[in-house]
Amino acid sequence: MKFTLNGKTATNNKVCFFYKKPKSTNLTFCSCSEPETKSDIEALFKAETIQADFGESLFYRNSKDGHELFVGLGEASKMSPEQVRSIAATVYKKLKQEKITDIRIPIEAIPAKDNSQTLQAFVEGFLLSSYEFTTFKKERKKTSEMAIHFTTKKINASLKKSIADGEIIAEGVNFARWLGDCPGNFMNPTQLAEEAKNCAKGTKLKVTSWNKAKIIKENMDSFIGVSNGSSQEPRFIIMEYNGAAASKKPVCFVGKGLTFDSGGISIKPSPRMEEMKYDMCGGSAVIATMATIAKLKLKVNAIAFVPASENMPGPAANKPGDIRKARNGMSIEINNTDAEGRLILADALVYASEKKPAWIADAATLTGAMMIALGNTHTGFFTRYPKLRDFINKAGEQSGEDVWQMPLCDHHTKDMKGTYADLTNTAPSREAGSATAAAFLENFVGKDIPWAHFDVAGTAWNVGNRLSYAPNKGASGAMVRTFVQMARNHR
Ligand code: BES
Ligand code: ZN
Ligand code: ZN
Repeated sequence: MKFTLNGKTATNNKVCFFYKKPKSTNLTFCSCSEPETKSDIEALFKAETIQADFGESLFYRNSKDGHELFVGLGEASKMSPEQVRSIAATVYKKLKQEKITDIRIPIEAIPAKDNSQTLQAFVEGFLLSSYEFTTFKKERKKTSEMAIHFTTKKINASLKKSIADGEIIAEGVNFARWLGDCPGNFMNPTQLAEEAKNCAKGTKLKVTSWNKAKIIKENMDSFIGVSNGSSQEPRFIIMEYNGAAASKKPVCFVGKGLTFDSGGISIKPSPRMEEMKYDMCGGSAVIATMATIAKLKLKVNAIAFVPASENMPGPAANKPGDIRKARNGMSIEINNTDAEGRLILADALVYASEKKPAWIADAATLTGAMMIALGNTHTGFFTRYPKLRDFINKAGEQSGEDVWQMPLCDHHTKDMKGTYADLTNTAPSREAGSATAAAFLENFVGKDIPWAHFDVAGTAWNVGNRLSYAPNKGASGAMVRTFVQMARNHR
């Protein structure tokens, strides 16, 4: 995919945007449309064959001066960047369908507050739409190479930067998706650590990974217990990026890297168990976030921790009733081996807290209850820090990813007290299962460290019915954009 801005191009193919002003019955066209095709479109509109709906598209082949793709923007007043991503998806799909490989796009014809935001969102939406997972197919379809020539009346530095930023961010999201889409027999903990190292090449990222012996030595008994049922060794992945003065506190990301969750001895039912290869999507979001932060060269210090493990019912697996001790000394009775995400995150959160960070954000496909609560539109997040809450809501608005604060209070904390140990990994009832999971995690975060937990169980995959630039089946890369935005906004 090649994007240029006012570059020299031989192509006469062009995108023409058309829309209705709110409450108006007339169409508005961007200046590039040909008079004949424009009047055709107007006639179709009068006949009510087309409505100028958002995302409606009509392709005019061989119009006198190159092909024209008309794209409806609905009742456009000011369009949000997220709407622009969706429009970009429409353009991508149509070009692919019509086998058009180069086109001009008058970016300023999209009514928006800020043209450079529009441009970045367009690039993102376009690249996100082009993602296909073909790694394991005999015939790997080539992704359609296209040359996109954005046109603008006036080039400035921020417009130029928008293209590069959009490319880096979309690449980051697509990388997270790829990690998630890979099957569990390939993307095991060792491989995930390899991928974290690979993505750091050519950047300032420092990546290390601990093996089983080192994890045991570091007193991560809660984490180790989960991996004991598997023939695959666990890995503890650490990614460090220093983009600010050494005196600046780092921000920390923690991600659940459960490369396959069978449930362990508390085994899951067979239907849809294959989806549990996605149980590392919190981890993949965090790995991709770090790669993106480094490529954008953000002025921030950031560290990520990804405990990577399988959850299998092998002979040495955790048994219901077992008690294990986390790195901070708290003992945990394991009453359901399928509540394993919180067990591996516990040790990672203790370790992250030791870095004395400005804040910690973790992402995890933690509970089925999260899917029931919010479906696949919003990522639920839990925090007791109002400032961090506002910071997250702002980043979510800017990134275009929907996040929604969920309640976390002392009632949930009480539910996680153990009978035979300090804590239990399973609340007495299923109600508010995502909140009790969050309350469990909170025990492992250092006192007074602002912390937020993002449960991506509903948003990490199969969101294509909601987002036109995401696949119906497959990983979404949820939270990469928001986490990068949080790092970008951090002062
Ligand atoms: N990885 C699952 C959560 C999950 C389930 C995510 C379905 C996405 C779709 C997690 O490890 C799990 O199994 N959680 C249990 C916890 C329960 C036993 C307390 C759950 O949600 O059922
Ligand atoms: Zn589980
Ligand atoms: Zn899990």
